[in-house]
Amino acid sequence: RPREAVSSKTHTGSLIATLPTKEGWSTPLVFYNNCWIRPHSLKDVMAVQDMLKLRPDDIILAAHPKCGTTWLKALVFTILNRSRYTFTDHPLLTVRPHQLVPFIALRPGDLDRAEALPSPRLLSTHLPLPLLPPAVSTLGCRIVCVCREPKDAFLSRWHFEKKLHQGISLGTDEAFAMFSEGCSPYGPFWDRYLEYWKESLARPREVMFLRYEEMVSDTPNVIRKLASFLGVPFTREEESGGVVDQVADLCGFTSLSNVDANRADRVEVEHAGAKLVFNPSSLFRKGEVGDWVNHMSKDMAARMDQLVAEKFKGSGLTF
Ligand code: A3P
Repeated sequence: RPREAVSSKTHTGSLIATLPTKEGWSTPLVFYNNCWIRPHSLKDVMAVQDMLKLRPDDIILAAHPKCGTTWLKALVFTILNRSRYTFTDHPLLTVRPHQLVPFIALRPGDLDRAEALPSPRLLSTHLPLPLLPPAVSTLGCRIVCVCREPKDAFLSRWHFEKKLHQGISLGTDEAFAMFSEGCSPYGPFWDRYLEYWKESLARPREVMFLRYEEMVSDTPNVIRKLASFLGVPFTREEESGGVVDQVADLCGFTSLSNVDANRADRVEVEHAGAKLVFNPSSLFRKGEVGDWVNHMSKDMAARMDQLVAEKFKGSGLTF
C-alpha cells in the first residue's frame, strides 16, 4: 500500500505548496497520495493513519461522494438500532443522517469525536482504502462501500457543487473534463471504486460492495443483505411484521427528503476548516437512476462509457 511518511512536524502548508492543485470545483483540490482532497482536510487526512485507533467491532461506511452516502448512513443506522427506536419516534425523523453517523477526517475534530464514541462504532469515510490505518484490513472491522454509475455520479456532483455556498466556476463541459481526468473530490473515482471492489473480492466476509442502482431497484433485498452482513439478520417475526419495509420506507427518498432537518435551506457547518453555508436539501435532489440522460450529450456519455470500460477492464466491475 502506498503510504507517505509524513512526520508530525511537517508543516501542512508547505506540503500543500508542493502538491498538484486544481481549481474549478467549489473549493480548490490538492492531489495527495493519489487522491484529490480539499486542502483544509489535508492535516486531518494525514493524521488518520496514526490517530484513528480502529476497533475490531467498528463498522465503516466507505461511500464515494454522490453515490448514496446519506442513504447508506440512514439504512445502516436504522438496521443496527432497530430494537432501540420505534419507527414513529426515530432520530431520522428529526436529525440529518450525517449527524448520526460521523465522518472520519472530513472536519477538524472528527478523529477526537470518533475516539470518544462507545463501541460498536458506526463511522463513515470518503477516503481511499490506502489512506485508512493498515489495521482496517487485519482487525476484523467491517466495511460497507457504495459506488454508482459514473455518469449519474458526475451529474449528482455537478448539481451539488452548484448549490454549495461558493458555487462552481466550471461549465458542464469543463466539469466533465475534470471528472473524466479523475479530478473530483476524493477522485479519481475509478481508483476508489476499484480499491474497495478488490478488497470486497479478497475479504467478502468483512467487506461488502454495493451499488446505488441495486439499492434503488431492490431496496428490501439490500436491507436484508446489509443486516446479514452486519451480523444482525432479520428474524422471522421481523420479516412477517414488515420490519424490512418499514426500514426501507423510513430511509426512502420521499420520507427523508421531507424531514424538516433535511429540507433546511441554510445550515452553517464547519467543513474542512472553513465555515460552509450548506443546504441540506441539496443532498436530496432526485434520487433516480439514469438521470444523466436528461443532462448529458450522447457524445459525453459515449466518452464516459469508453473511459469506464478502459478503467474497469478485467476487474469484473461493470456499469
Ligand atoms: P441525485 O443528485 O442523483 O439525486 P451522497 O449522499 O453520497 O451525497 O449522494 C447523493 C445522491 O443520493 C443524490 O443523487 C441524492 O438525491 C441521492 N439520495 C439521497 N438520499 C436518498 C435516498 N433516501 N434514496 C435514494 N437516493 C437518495
